[in-house]
Amino acid sequence: MTNRHFGPPHSPHRVDGMRGELHDIVAGLIDGIGDPGRIDLVDQFSYPFPVTVICRLLGVPREDEARFHTWADTIAASLDPDPDADPAERGKDSHDARMQLGMYLAGLIEERRKSPRDDMLSELATAKGPDGTMTTMELLSTAALLLIAGHETTVNLVTNGMLTLLRNPDVLRRLRADPRLAVPIVEELLRFEPPVQLLPQRTTLADIEVHGVTIPKGASLWLVLASGNRDPQRFEDPDRFDPDRRDIQHLGFGSGIHICFGAPLARLEAQLALSELARRLDNPRLLEDPPPYRQNAVLRGPRHLPIACDGIRP
Ligand code: HEM
Repeated sequence: MTNRHFGPPHSPHRVDGMRGELHDIVAGLIDGIGDPGRIDLVDQFSYPFPVTVICRLLGVPREDEARFHTWADTIAASLDPDPDADPAERGKDSHDARMQLGMYLAGLIEERRKSPRDDMLSELATAKGPDGTMTTMELLSTAALLLIAGHETTVNLVTNGMLTLLRNPDVLRRLRADPRLAVPIVEELLRFEPPVQLLPQRTTLADIEVHGVTIPKGASLWLVLASGNRDPQRFEDPDRFDPDRRDIQHLGFGSGIHICFGAPLARLEAQLALSELARRLDNPRLLEDPPPYRQNAVLRGPRHLPIACDGIRP
């Protein structure tokens, strides 16, 4: 029901149709960078970019970011299986954040039902397609999932991407000369530094044999995508970042029927962001390596990425 308004066959141009708009958002953020001697790539670029994009796509007012930022952060933090955290306290925090985000989105959905606009929330709220209509609860959880999944992951792909490029200056130089290289670079990044490292709490529905070990039916599993992405039996020299690999079939977006819904958008955002950063930042360099990371075992990425450059090219 959601994909009807997002991808093929019913909305084949939705993501590609945003290309010009995405480019303008990227250009505006780079133009606004200010002092090239000290840039925090996360706060000044990698976070505001996907937030602006997902807000436009859904029809969530961008100026409300300060309101939903804390709720989204609390919900993202609750995905971290931190063994030291008090589960009762964390459960309460994330429950409260979900309730507040839910009430905020319920207000928006109500408005869009009364006066629909050209955005996905309006379409989802008013759709009477062959798949039927979403209940209010389905609509609320879908909207919350899209809003959070739409930016809490892409921020890390762009930041991990720039960090990896600055550690691999040859690749950065090649990208500057040929922006088409952004396509294999982003795929290799999703293998090498996946923003979603693991999928916790899966349960086997049957006995499964993996390399001679039987995992019994009903077992609780954590699927460590990042580890599969560096399996030496699958990838040659897996710890090397190499966008020239012939086969980069990674697990960065999961796999199977729940494979990432937003993958086409995330890919396009990261390709545009990295190729424009490579083209416009003059002699960029890291000011801190490694940078400070977010404390989250599921969503991996720097909290800040301090970099400097000699200037911003037009
Ligand atoms: C680099 C960015 C992204 C990464 C690495 C990523 C990763 C993932 C992964 C690994 C899953 C599979 C979860 C599972 O199997 O349970 C997933 C699911 C999902 N993603 Fe993404 N995602 C990204 C961006 C996005 C964006 C931009 C959106 C929204 C526009 C989005 C929406 C979703 C949704 C709705 C699901 C659930 C799909 C389902 O259960 O059927 N994601 N994502």
